[in-house]
Amino acid sequence: MNLVVANWKMHKTRSEVEAFVRDFASRAERIENVEIAIAPAFPFLGAAGDARGRWSVAAQDCGAERAGAFTGEVSAEMIASEGARYVILGHSERRRLFRENVETLSRKLARAREAGLIPIFCVGESEEEKSAGRTAAVLDEQIRSLDGDAPEAELVLAYEPVWAIGTGRNANPEEICGGARHIVERLSNRPLLRVLYGGSVTPDNADELIAQRAIAGFLVGGASLSPESFEKICRSAASAAA
Ligand code: 13P
Repeated sequence: MNLVVANWKMHKTRSEVEAFVRDFASRAERIENVEIAIAPAFPFLGAAGDARGRWSVAAQDCGAERAGAFTGEVSAEMIASEGARYVILGHSERRRLFRENVETLSRKLARAREAGLIPIFCVGESEEEKSAGRTAAVLDEQIRSLDGDAPEAELVLAYEPVWAIGTGRNANPEEICGGARHIVERLSNRPLLRVLYGGSVTPDNADELIAQRAIAGFLVGGASLSPESFEKICRSAASAAA
């Protein structure tokens, strides 16, 4: 079954989260054959959940340490205790703006596993790296964070080319397949791997993108903020699976 994840980034206050949940609940009722997850900001992990289990919740990050004097950090254990199932790790915004590197991310992965969270691990090349023909090398380097992770554990990999995020310029099917196939080959020892695509996914391009057999769903930013457009993307992913 395909998986569609809403990454809300630093958007939505409590009342906006509650309004989305109310609206999306009736829409989710009518969507079958697709797994849905929503990643709100930390304070709303509980509020963004669905008591009836029509979707699950993901955090957008977690701390690299277990617990202790780390002001401002949120641990994987805290996230799990709010009922989350997934945690997004290594998003390009965190790599770029908050200087997260391979070592930090391998520690975060370990914390996620200890807490029983399934990582949604993001990888992707920048425009410059792509132009230099370095996409495969960049993906390999980022995937190095997974070296210490048990290969039999469930893993979601999100291929998000940096140049496609928030730009309205989604990767074309060949680019998506190229990146996704490289990841699958590199992680061929992992039976429970799902590869998602992220980067300017919208209701208008979701059908064409999900038709690529190499991907098993989407990580959606901007277009996940409205219940209506997120529903349409979920439906595209659902119909492709049927
Ligand atoms: P957009 O869908 O807004 O391009 O964002 C993609 C993304 O970063 C999801 O994690």
